[in-house]
Amino acid sequence: MERRTIGAGALEVGAVGLGCMPMSWAYTGSRQRGDASVRTLHAALDAMGGAGGGGMLLDTADMYGPFTNELLIGRVLKERRGEAFVSTKCGLLVGEQHIVANGRPGYVKRACDASLRRLQTDTIDLYQLHRADPEIPVEETWGAMGELVAAGKVRALGLCAVGARAHRRPAPGRTGQGRAGSGRYDATIRQLERVQQVFPVSAVQAELSVWSPEALDTLLPWCVARGVGLLAAMPLGNGFLTGTLKPGQGFEPDDLRARHPRFTAEMMAANQPLLVGLRRVAERHGATPAQAALAWVLAQGRHVVPIPGAKRERWAVENAGAAALRLTERDLAEIAALPPALGSWD
Ligand SMILES: NC(=O)c1ccc[n+]([C@@H]2O[C@H](COP(=O)([O-])OP(=O)(O)OC[C@H]3O[C@@H](n4cnc5c(N)ncnc54)[C@H](OP(=O)(O)O)[C@@H]3O)[C@@H](O)[C@H]2O)c1
Repeated sequence: MERRTIGAGALEVGAVGLGCMPMSWAYTGSRQRGDASVRTLHAALDAMGGAGGGGMLLDTADMYGPFTNELLIGRVLKERRGEAFVSTKCGLLVGEQHIVANGRPGYVKRACDASLRRLQTDTIDLYQLHRADPEIPVEETWGAMGELVAAGKVRALGLCAVGARAHRRPAPGRTGQGRAGSGRYDATIRQLERVQQVFPVSAVQAELSVWSPEALDTLLPWCVARGVGLLAAMPLGNGFLTGTLKPGQGFEPDDLRARHPRFTAEMMAANQPLLVGLRRVAERHGATPAQAALAWVLAQGRHVVPIPGAKRERWAVENAGAAALRLTERDLAEIAALPPALGSWD
C-alpha cells in the first residue's frame, strides 16, 4: 500500500484514509450503527493491511456524535493502535440549539484529555482545530495546542479550512473547476499564516473533490510550498460522485444533504454529466466511480490524502482499493474537461 507524507515532521500514512463522521453524525442512520461501524473500522484496517508506517488515517472529531464517534474508534484502537494514524479535532461544542466554537486554551487542553480517554490511547497523531473561535485570537488557541505537542499528548497539529461562501453566484449557481470559487480559501490562508508563527502546521483539512476543486487554486499550493499535508474532506461529494444516489430520492431531515443546495432533485439531475464522465473513466480501469473520484484526488499530489467517509463495510473496503488505481494523463484530461458542478457547495 502506497504511503504518503504529511507535515514538516514527516508523518507517514496510508494513501487513502477513512472519514469516520458518517458513523455518528450528519448522514441518515448515522446514530444507529455502533457495532456495524466497529466492523467497518476493522474491515478498513484489514483492507489497508499493508499501509505500514503510521498506518491508516482515521479522521474523527469530538463533536461527531457528539463524542460517540471517538468512543467507537477507541473500541478498535484498543486492539489495533499500531495500524492506525489517529486524527481528531477540537474547538466545536454541540449545544441544544446551536454548534458553538470554543478556542479558550484551558478548554482545548481539557478537550484533548477527554479525547485521549475516549480514544483509549496515549497520543493523538494529528490534533486539528475544527473552527477558530471568533472571540479568542487564534494564536492563543494554537499556542495551547502546541503545548499539547510539547507534553507528548499530540504528535502534530492541523487546521480545518472553512471555505467562505461565494460572494457572487453566477447564474444558475455555477461553481467549480476553481473559477467561481477562487478566493474560497483566502481567509483560511490568512489564518494559516498567523498560526504558523506560533507552531508549525502539519496538515490542513479542506473539501476537495471532482465537484469541489477550489482548494487546488491557492490552498494546495500553499500546502505544497511548506510541506504541509492536505486532508481531502468530502472527496466523494457527500456520496454524489459514487453514482449510488438518484435525483429526487430525498433525504431524512437529519441528513446534511436534505439542506445541501447540490442535493435538490434539480441539481442532482443537472450534475449527472459529471457522473457519466467519471463512470467512463472508471470503467476503463474496471473500477467504480467512487474509486475514480478518489484516484483523482490522489493524483493532485503527494501531500494529498483523501479521507472518504463511510459507515458501511463494503464502501470502506472499496474506497481503500482506490489507492491502487493510477489515472492516466488521458483520464485526468477527460475529468478536467467535464462541466463544472452546478449549485453552491454550501
Ligand atoms: N473538517 C470539516 O469541517 C469536515 C466536514 C465534513 C467532513 N469532514 C471529514 O471528511 C470525511 C469525508 O466527508 P463526508 O463523509 O462528509 O463525505 P464523502 O466522503 O464525500 O461521502 C460520504 C458519503 O458517501 C457514501 N459512500 C462512501 N463510499 C461509498 C462508495 N464506495 N459507494 C457508495 N457510497 C459511498 C457514504 O455512505 P455510508 O455512510 O452509508 O457508508 C456517505 O454517505 C468525514 O467523514 C469527516 O471525517 C470534515
